[in-house]
Amino acid sequence: MAERKSLAAKVTYRETGEADRAQVRALQEAVYDGSIAALCDAMIFGSEETLSLVAELDGQVIGQILLAPVSGPERALALAPHAVLPAWRDMQIGTELVRHALKLARHRGWRSVFVFGQPDYYRRFGFRSRTADCADVTWQGPRFLALELEEGALAAWSGPLDYPESYLAVALSVRR
Ligand SMILES: CC(C)(COP(=O)(O)OP(=O)(O)OC[C@H]1O[C@@H](n2cnc3c(N)ncnc32)[C@H](O)[C@@H]1OP(=O)(O)O)[C@@H](O)C(=O)NCCC(=O)NCCS
Repeated sequence: MAERKSLAAKVTYRETGEADRAQVRALQEAVYDGSIAALCDAMIFGSEETLSLVAELDGQVIGQILLAPVSGPERALALAPHAVLPAWRDMQIGTELVRHALKLARHRGWRSVFVFGQPDYYRRFGFRSRTADCADVTWQGPRFLALELEEGALAAWSGPLDYPESYLAVALSVRR
């Protein structure tokens, strides 16, 4: 375990590139299924502005995170999927992926992020269910959380949150 922890410290977190394409797809097929992997592949490498990061160790993609735009509040993203290969879990790699992704999102001028997932996990980054209450979606509840990247980004907004149709399947079907 000590050896694996020291290896985890050598992990690089960076934006996904074309050269990662096959490995990202294989990772998502391993963690989720082929249809989710195909939807994500189209989003990451399509024309839409998405934010995708990988965790890489010695040339191997061992984790990946995707944030994609949703319509509603100005410059809002949804986070999904977020995956680490089973052999590398519980070593803070997933946490670092989220931290790096949120930092980059802020830097790029995104103002808020929504996620449907395990509240105890995403709370550590500042995601709160009450912050997402402003969104009029059928999956409202304790597992639906939001984070303001810019203070007050969601304070004066309420209304429907529209996910691209293909992305909705990803955002709601992958959950810890
Ligand atoms: C979710 C996932 C990406 C996390 O990656 P990871 O590298 O294992 O996560 P980390 O090591 O950074 O964090 C582990 C922490 O989560 C906690 N945790 C584990 N299971 C948990 C659960 N069911 N609920 C809440 N917290 C949990 C651990 O106790 C640990 O806490 P600590 O940091 O206080 O020690 C990974 O488990 C995964 O790929 N899961 C399958 C896909 C998935 O469900 N993705 C999320 C939805 S998009």
